[in-house]
This record gives sequence, C-alpha cells and structure tokens, in this order.
Amino acid sequence: MNIRNFYPYLKPYKRSFIIIPLFVLIDVVCEISQPRLMSAVVDGGILNKDLHYVLKTGLAMIGLALVAILANLGNIYYSSAASVGFVTSLRRGLFYKIQTFSFADTDYFSSASLTTRITNDANVLQQVLMMSLRMLLRAPLMLIFAVVFAIMINKELALVLAFSIPVLAISIYLLLRKGLPYFIKMQKRVDRLNATVQENLLNVRVVKAFVRQDFEKEKFEKVNTDLMTIAEKASGIVIMIMPVMQLIMGISLVAVTWFGGQKVMAGSLPLGGLMSFLSYIAQILIALMILSMTFMMLSRAIASGDRIEEVLLKASSLTNTPGAAEKGLKVKHGSIRFDHVSFRYSAGSEKANLEHISFDIEAGSTVAIIGGTGSGKSTLVQLIPRLYDVSSGAVCIDGVNVKDYTLAELRSSIGIVLQQNQLFSGTIYDNLKWGDPNASEAEITEAARIASADDFIRSFPDGYQTMLGQGGVNLSGGQKQRICIARTLLKKPAILILDDSTSALDITTDRNIREGLDKYLSNTTVLIIAQRISSVQHADKIIVLDEGRVAGMGQHASLLNDNAIYQEIYQSQYLNKEETV
Ligand SMILES: Nc1ncnc2c1ncn2[C@@H]1O[C@H](COP(=O)(O)OP(=O)(O)OP(=O)(O)O)[C@@H](O)[C@H]1O
Ligand SMILES: [Mg+2]
Repeated sequence: MNIRNFYPYLKPYKRSFIIIPLFVLIDVVCEISQPRLMSAVVDGGILNKDLHYVLKTGLAMIGLALVAILANLGNIYYSSAASVGFVTSLRRGLFYKIQTFSFADTDYFSSASLTTRITNDANVLQQVLMMSLRMLLRAPLMLIFAVVFAIMINKELALVLAFSIPVLAISIYLLLRKGLPYFIKMQKRVDRLNATVQENLLNVRVVKAFVRQDFEKEKFEKVNTDLMTIAEKASGIVIMIMPVMQLIMGISLVAVTWFGGQKVMAGSLPLGGLMSFLSYIAQILIALMILSMTFMMLSRAIASGDRIEEVLLKASSLTNTPGAAEKGLKVKHGSIRFDHVSFRYSAGSEKANLEHISFDIEAGSTVAIIGGTGSGKSTLVQLIPRLYDVSSGAVCIDGVNVKDYTLAELRSSIGIVLQQNQLFSGTIYDNLKWGDPNASEAEITEAARIASADDFIRSFPDGYQTMLGQGGVNLSGGQKQRICIARTLLKKPAILILDDSTSALDITTDRNIREGLDKYLSNTTVLIIAQRISSVQHADKIIVLDEGRVAGMGQHASLLNDNAIYQEIYQSQYLNKEETV
C-alpha cells in the first residue's frame, strides 16, 4: 500500500492532521504531569503536614485533568470528522472508478469482491484512521515522557525498563508479523461470504424452484465457518499480546517495588517518588498496549488498503483512444463493417470465441444473426459498442474504426438490448426514461407502442407509474423484454441491436414489434439475434454463425437453398409441422 494513492482523499482534511497532534500534545502533557504532582502532594504536602500545599496542588491536578478532557474532546471531534470524511470520499472515488470498468474488469474482481471492498474494507480504513489519529501519536509520546520522567526520578530503578521495554517490543513485533497474513486471508473470506450471499439472493427463485435451500445452507455454513476459523486465528494471536505484556510488566512492577522499597527504607528515595515511579510504569504499560493495538489495527488496515488500492489503480481496460476526443467523430449513418475480426475472452485460451469474421451491413438495413447456442452471436454484437475490444481485425462504423470514436459517442448512438437485460427498481416510467432522460411523455408512449408494451402497461392499475421491484421482478419475462426494447428505442440510436430480445414473446407480438421497427425506424440499422426462423426470414441479410465463424450469409431463400446449417435450423423448427412460412 502506498499512502500517496490515498492522498487525494486525505487532502481535504490536512488541517486536521496539524490540529490533532496539538490536542494530543496538550492531553499528554497534562496526563503525564499528574504522577509528578501526586508525588509532590505526598512528599511536600502530606509528609510535611502542609494542608494548604495539598489543596493547591490538588486543584492544579483537577485543572490539568479538565484541560486534558477538553483536548481529548477536540481530538475526538477532529479525528471523527477527518476519518468519516476521508472514507466517504474514498468510497465515492471507488464507485466512480468502478463505473469506468469494462465488463472484463468487473469480471476480474467479481462483483462480490467489489462490494466488500467498497463497504467492509472501507469501514476498516475508517476505524483504523480514527483510532490512529487519536492513538498513534499519543501512545509513543506517553511512552517517551513516562520513560524520561521515570529516569529523572531514579536512574537505577529505570534500568528495569531497559530490560522490559525491548523484550516487550520484540514480542509485539513477532506476534504482529504472524498476525498480518491472517488479516489478508480474513478479507478474502469476507469476499467469499459476500459472493455466496449475493448469488443466493440473486438466484433466490432458482434456489426455491430446485428446492436447494439445504444445499445453499451448507454452502453458507462452510464459508461462514471458514471466516470464523481465520478470524479466531487472527484474534487469537492478537489476544496473545495481552498476557505476554502483563507478564513482563508484572515482573517489572515487582522488581521496581522490591528495589524501590529498599531505597525508600534506606532514605535514598522519597515515598512519593516511588509512587509516581509506579504510576509511570503503569502508563508505560498502557501506552505499549495501545501502541500494539494500533499496530494490529494498522496491519489490518494495510490488508484492506491494498485491496482498495488495487481497484483505484486498475486502469480500465477499455478507454477512449488517445486523440478520440479531439477528433470528435460522430456516428451519422450507421453502416457496420467487420474486417477479419477475431476475439477471445481470455488471452490465454486456445480456441478463439470468434474467428475471421468479415461482413458489411448497409446503413438503415435490417440484418439478422442466427446460429446455435454458444456459436458467438452475443459475443459478436458486443464488439460493436466496444463492450469488449476485438483481439485482432477491426470493427468499423461508417467506415471509421469504433476505437476512433469516444466511448460516449459510440455507446449513445448504439442501442443494445442485451440478452440478459435488467431493469431497475422504480416506476416503469423512470425505467423507460433511462433511454433518454429528456424524453417527453408522448415519446415515451410511442416507444412503448412500437415495442408492443403500451397495452400491457396501461392494463396495470398504476399504468406507467407501476413500481418495479429490484430487477423488475414483478413483470413477466416477455413484459420485461418489451420494456427493455422500448427503453432502448428512446435513445433513438443509429444502430439498434436486439440480442434474443423477443425470445419470450409469442410469434404475433414478435412480428408486431418487427413491423413497428420497420415502419418507425426506417433509417436505423437494426441487428436482430434470434433463434426462430420466423424472426429472421424477412431480414435484408441473414448471417449464419457456427462455432465462432461465419457459416453463411444471404437472404432467407438463398440460404434455405444452399446453407446446410440454415437448413438444419429450418427443418428443426418446421419439419412435421403443418404451418408454412
Ligand atoms: N464473459 C465470458 N467469458 C468467457 N467466455 C465467455 C463469456 N461469454 C461467453 N463466453 C463463451 O463464448 C462463446 C460464445 O458465447 P455467446 O454468448 O456469444 O454465444 P451465443 O451465440 O450468444 O449463445 P446463445 O444463443 O446461447 O445466447 C461460448 O463458448 C461461451 O462459453
Ligand atoms: Mg447469446
């Protein structure tokens, strides 16, 4: 972890980093003076029977305690504000960063891990920063002052510290070094726990349908227990610090009392001096304890900080090409060309997911893509708005490589209804407005009409104001698909891509939508991926994909005539059926 990467988020609080140490200093000076005053009360007041002196010094002690309390309050105020503020802006930074990620980047981290990093890891940083701001300076200051005062009281007695402090420091160091790897592992297991819970909730319907609750419980039990085991180990090590410290300090106290008592009896050390010496030893104990706790927390913070840093430093794998913004190219017509395009999801994999794909699509035409499941249809269309980048070859729009447009321009001129589409919680109206925040009501209902969604939306008691649950759970599959199509239509894209977007619709509704698109979007290039021959047969061009390659291209009649794969698909759908196409 390099603190410099966090500097932008800490910077607004730099004033706190100056003020807090001042408060700490005041607090420490007040607290450290107490035992000295105490010994003065005993030696100068009580033993001399001088009540006036006792009162005066006692009042001074109360005054100092009050100042210490005020300084402490100031410290708490500033360190809370700084740590909460820091983590708030850090979370914002993380979230904004994640918005720049490509699909591949999100796959790389996994959504569960990103969630843990932005919540749990950020919380760790907040707690640790708060604790460090209060303690990291205070504890060593207390330690130094207490040691100095102890030496001032009696050099020989202070020799005890020359043994106990190094032994303590070394044992704390060793324990912490052993603990750190456990903290790193612990956060990874929190990831796994989050992933399990997230997946379970996301797929709650499948879990119930397959009556897999028991299996899911077992899965959860395992990750939960794994987390517990590692947390036990981590805290076990940390807790070990306590008895070690108590043992060493106990021995020191006994040694001081033994040697100091002899000195008091011999008259070479005043009684009050011995009392304050013992107080300083106690303060040293507390300071070391706090210091080791802070170090322990810090090592946990480093584990979390590393994980957050990894996200902050991750360069988005899909960004604007340098110079694209200056060129300011716009998509005008919407013709598409694939020029010897190959693509693989992971660079290391043997087989390409798409290989040597070349074709031309005229602006304003309607092109269909058909092919078996897993043949690469979705992969192919995702290359057009650069949801992924080609591995070799080029995808061009209006004769310009897609990489030469800015991502914003490219994606706003391409409307894509993804195969796995999602709606957001909110009203249907709000969901449709996603396509165009400035759309008028008339535009919204028109888009819904083209997508054959208007009728069923109006049939709901609340119409367009119907509230959708998370992901649109209260809609049927076909209703969801139509709202997704309407939402995309509102973008008024130059290129419209429908990836299996009418699969859940009956043939009549499917046809109505296609006819609506033909009629209203005559200038839009439309790409339709479908499994049904009836959905593709009227297209200007049909591209047949097979195992990542183009296996044929042309219109329905000619493909039916000479393309084996197309014939096969056709026969599988129409053989032994009376209806004709
Ligand atoms: N995110 C991904 N990471 C790695 N491999 C993937 C990913 N998505 C798809 N693939 C692989 O790429 C190949 C093509 O998948 P693709 O989704 O393009 O097929 P498809 O033709 O759209 O299939 P379907 O008709 O079932 O939607 C498949 O072998 C699949 O396993
Ligand atoms: Mg697909």
